[in-house]
Amino acid sequence: MQEKKIAIASDHAGYRMKAYLADWLMRQGYAVRDLGPADETPIDYPDQATLVADSIRNQTADLGILICGTGIGMSIAVNRRPDIRGALVFTPEMAALARRHNNANVLILGGRTTDFEVAVACVDAFLKASFENGRHAGRVAKLERITL
Ligand code: RB5
Repeated sequence: MQEKKIAIASDHAGYRMKAYLADWLMRQGYAVRDLGPADETPIDYPDQATLVADSIRNQTADLGILICGTGIGMSIAVNRRPDIRGALVFTPEMAALARRHNNANVLILGGRTTDFEVAVACVDAFLKASFENGRHAGRVAKLERITL
């Protein structure tokens, strides 16, 4: 049984992929917090991104997954939060590197732009990879010091 708690959410455009991935995650033994939506009724991606960011902040989740049509809106939204490192990925290699090099804590996918089986492979790679620290630690620390 896996111990990681995963928060997952989407907008209407990512709903089908979100349902598919949540089911896959539960079958793998992850503790899944499905933050909705429950159907394809239109819903705004900034609101859903906020739910996942809040879950990480209050430690009810270790990592998050967000899905909208392209992943772009979710990426813009969730990366406004200073404690979030969200990575929009298209391949399992990108997903693994997002954890290993960037210590990404939210994986972002495009429900209309990525094949569902590729999305599963991205989630699997993301969750199995770990931050390498080393030369990457200082760079990730600098992210927190960027001010506007
Ligand atoms: C919804 O139609 C779509 O705009 C949204 O899911 C997302 O792709 C925005 O970035």
